Amino acid sequence: MALAGQVTIVTGASTGIGRCIALEVATQHARLCLVGRQLDKLESVAEEVRALGAEAHVFQTELASEPDILKTSQALVDQFGHIDILIHCAGMISQGTVAETPVEVMDELYRVNFRAPYLLTHRLLPFLKHTGQIVFVNSTAGLNAKAGVSQYAASKHALKALADSLRQELSPIGIRVLTVYPARTATPMQEKIFQYEKRAYCPELLLQPERVARSVVHVLTMPRDSEITDLSIRGVTDMSVPHPKEKEIVAKSAAFPDRHPDRHPAHRCWPNPSGKVTDGPLGPDTAVSSSAKLPVA
Ligand SMILES: NC(=O)c1ccc[n+]([C@@H]2O[C@H](COP(=O)([O-])OP(=O)(O)OC[C@H]3O[C@@H](n4cnc5c(N)ncnc54)[C@H](OP(=O)(O)O)[C@@H]3O)[C@@H](O)[C@H]2O)c1
Repeated sequence: MALAGQVTIVTGASTGIGRCIALEVATQHARLCLVGRQLDKLESVAEEVRALGAEAHVFQTELASEPDILKTSQALVDQFGHIDILIHCAGMISQGTVAETPVEVMDELYRVNFRAPYLLTHRLLPFLKHTGQIVFVNSTAGLNAKAGVSQYAASKHALKALADSLRQELSPIGIRVLTVYPARTATPMQEKIFQYEKRAYCPELLLQPERVARSVVHVLTMPRDSEITDLSIRGVTDMSVPHPKEKEIVAKSAAFPDRHPDRHPAHRCWPNPSGKVTDGPLGPDTAVSSSAKLPVA
């Protein structure tokens, strides 16, 4: 286990991609420090981490707050003395055009998605081992900005710049810096995006957060003679446009308004763990198989 005993901080560990990364790192028996706001969710992830045989410590932190970040970074240093791996995964999104979105929204996204990783990195760098590694969970929006997400895309572009500069600064002393660019991934954040877009949420058609997590740990455990600097991951199904399965659900929702997904979340299209076609919430022909192909082994 290449990461055994390594002090690993994961921000955004309470849900989604961050939770999956924490669990995947836990399979390596690392010492996990879980950062986020929702204490109950962090505690429950900590239990899952311990069940996998790893150490888990919870640091409840509001990453939009500088005093909170300073308090958490000091507590991390006091408790562990050094850091091996720092994984920035916490993030938030907003949707809306520049014309309709107040600057305060931009400020908040900037604080959480960019300023917080910058400050946490700045505070912890002196304690990062020279075999250390830093991971930034970015987004495809950090490479290509599209209409309606300028605040999010700008904060992620800034995060890319931070990672690229940092890599050049730290490479000579042996610290590796990885940026991950996931496409639409099945997490609570993506579910909200689908709601905003008024699309039927079919998580099994999306990239799975476990795949992202496995790819991150694969890179973290690579021999020290090489480095992967950037990792773009997407699901094989193009979800930038509505999938036929979504159109089918929306059409049925129109025919049966009382079963509309907005009104009855149980009528969304959920993975069918058995992989078999069974009765779905909208009728026998709407069940979906969980055998969606995924890009990363
Ligand atoms: N899902 C996607 O399709 C997708 C695609 C590309 C990139 N990403 C990126 O992947 C990362 C994880 O997103 P996700 O999809 O897993 O979303 P998610 O399920 O909503 O998780 C977001 C995480 O960030 C934490 N967080 C948010 N605001 C915070 C704050 N102010 N202070 C502390 N923690 C905060 C949340 O913790 P608490 O709620 O406990 O505070 C939560 O653990 C984000 O950086 C996102 O931009 C996601």
